[in-house]
Amino acid sequence: MENNAPTRLNTTGFSRELDEEIEVKLRPARFEDYIGQEKVKENMQVFVQAALGRGETLDHVLLYGQPGLGKTTLSSIIAGAMNAQLRVTTGPAIERPGDIAAILNDLNEGDFLFIDEIHRLNRTVEEMLYSAMEDFVFDIIIGKGPGARSIRLDLPKFTLIGATTRIGLLTAPLRDRFGVVHHLEPYSVADLQKIIIRSAGVLGVEIEEKGAEEIARRARGTPRIVNRLLKRVRDFAQVKFDGVITEEVAVSSLDKLEIDRLGLDTVDKKILLAIIEKFGGGPVGLDTLAASIDEEAGTLEDVAEPYLLQLGFIQRTPRGRTATRLAYSHLGLEHFQSYDNGGQLSL
Ligand code: ADE
Repeated sequence: MENNAPTRLNTTGFSRELDEEIEVKLRPARFEDYIGQEKVKENMQVFVQAALGRGETLDHVLLYGQPGLGKTTLSSIIAGAMNAQLRVTTGPAIERPGDIAAILNDLNEGDFLFIDEIHRLNRTVEEMLYSAMEDFVFDIIIGKGPGARSIRLDLPKFTLIGATTRIGLLTAPLRDRFGVVHHLEPYSVADLQKIIIRSAGVLGVEIEEKGAEEIARRARGTPRIVNRLLKRVRDFAQVKFDGVITEEVAVSSLDKLEIDRLGLDTVDKKILLAIIEKFGGGPVGLDTLAASIDEEAGTLEDVAEPYLLQLGFIQRTPRGRTATRLAYSHLGLEHFQSYDNGGQLSL
């Protein structure tokens, strides 16, 4: 987004910073300011330094991991460290071969192209990327039928950064064309606490260590969530308290937001309760489960499920999802029987 994007006016006439603008402001711009993902960061810094030293472009990079872990942020830091421009697009936005042709044709030597949700590229577009990634050439087919001919265009050397939440959906030929593949892990509470303290500093919000820790603990390992919670808790601190985010302010605000001690929200609870109450603890298939709570199967699988799996609250079995004893106990429910030990009925 442009830095000089207009700020919207609210009804009182004061300019109000939009949430997206705040989000951009909170993003670290350099490796030194990027907290967590130590291994990825260290390796990427070596690859960047090596490429710069040789005067070459960086090899193509694939980043995968849950949503909100900073794939876009890291990409813009990498491009910045290479003194290069970053073009950002997403897999589903590139519908036709002409779309990818226009994007590639617009690149300059050394540019970075970031394709988010790269697993959602359609097959024709994906196949056109192969030669672009490997040999920096692009074949365009002109005409149709027996008279069709192909023209080869040379492309500038560029670096593709692909990001995905679903590495398993990537085809082998595409995956194999990335020279660097990194997995972003969920963040520790300690790292999220550092991020929130840094973000509070950027926003000019006063926050105590314990307040930061409380928010970090409920942010499900995700910087995007920690920053979103910070913005909301800041609102409560300002309106209901004296502006400082203490532990008490954090607990009270997050309880009001219906985010529990482990970071589960109403959707997570709905999922667990549906498995337990509607399907006797499971197993239940993803589509049936999603339909029963009026959510999209994809959202459930990409957004809610990873954290529930991480907590050990649900299990994926060949016959569907089951709720574990831990889930029952977290919800304060009694666990009479379930199939969560490998399909055997346990009492
Ligand atoms: N804001 C969002 N992600 C961050 C990170 N990894 N480090 C610092 N600030 C962040």
